[in-house]
Amino acid sequence: MRISINKIKEMKEKGEKITMLTSYDYVTAKIVDEVGIPMILVGDSLGMVVLGYESTIPVTLEEMLHHTKAVVRGTKSTMVIGDMPFMTYHLSIEQALHNAGRFIQEAGAQAVKLEGGVNVAEKVQKIVECGIPVMGHIGLTPQSINQLGGYKIQGKTVDAAAKLLKDAKALEEAGAFSVVLETVPAPLAALITREISIPTIGIGAGPDCDGEVQVINDILGSFTDFVPKHAKQYAKLANIMSTAIQQYYDEVRAGKFPTKENSFPMDESILAELKK
Ligand code: KIV
Repeated sequence: MRISINKIKEMKEKGEKITMLTSYDYVTAKIVDEVGIPMILVGDSLGMVVLGYESTIPVTLEEMLHHTKAVVRGTKSTMVIGDMPFMTYHLSIEQALHNAGRFIQEAGAQAVKLEGGVNVAEKVQKIVECGIPVMGHIGLTPQSINQLGGYKIQGKTVDAAAKLLKDAKALEEAGAFSVVLETVPAPLAALITREISIPTIGIGAGPDCDGEVQVINDILGSFTDFVPKHAKQYAKLANIMSTAIQQYYDEVRAGKFPTKENSFPMDESILAELKK
């Protein structure tokens, strides 16, 4: 049985910290699930850390569905949340419903995430009414990077902070089961967390959110193009991978691999017959 949105809401009520990590493939998701992380986000960060795009904007719905399916296949207990990519919920309520439905029906996700506050509240409400749990996402919303003018801290002025609080409340009212707060000052994230009843999941939002989300490649040190300030590297996988690949390269060239142990024998009589 997978973790439900009720369990996630209950964790806030009990003051239990909620952990979320991104994953994009079967192998990684399986490990995250086995560790017991309650929520996996198949984030559109996929575009940058897996597909090599410069931003999340080029990510397509088909790419997201493809990776969400792999994550679902690798997991048993964790809740899988599919991230709706740019322009797949912006055009109309019908478009938002149709595409949210594809994450649930085709890919097997249990919830979807979309970026925005007051501006997407009506869509959130309609998706929730159809029985699809929605996670909101406010603060630094990377799909609006061209509008925001860069990956900057959000909510630094009175007006901007008040807008974020209003966005969080609009999502709560629309029926979202939780909301990601990305790159906002820690005291503002703490205030929003106190002001709304649904869990806040921070990333670059300080220690007082109800939970934390990180991009898995950042915490494992496998994505090296840049390391965000909010991330902590618990491993340096890129170095470990590079050393292993170098060793393989050297050993094949030196004739040290493969050896007898990695090979399959053949009956001598068959070989002798063949040589006749
Ligand atoms: O796409 C993503 O990985 C995200 C998280 C950073 C919240 O949206």
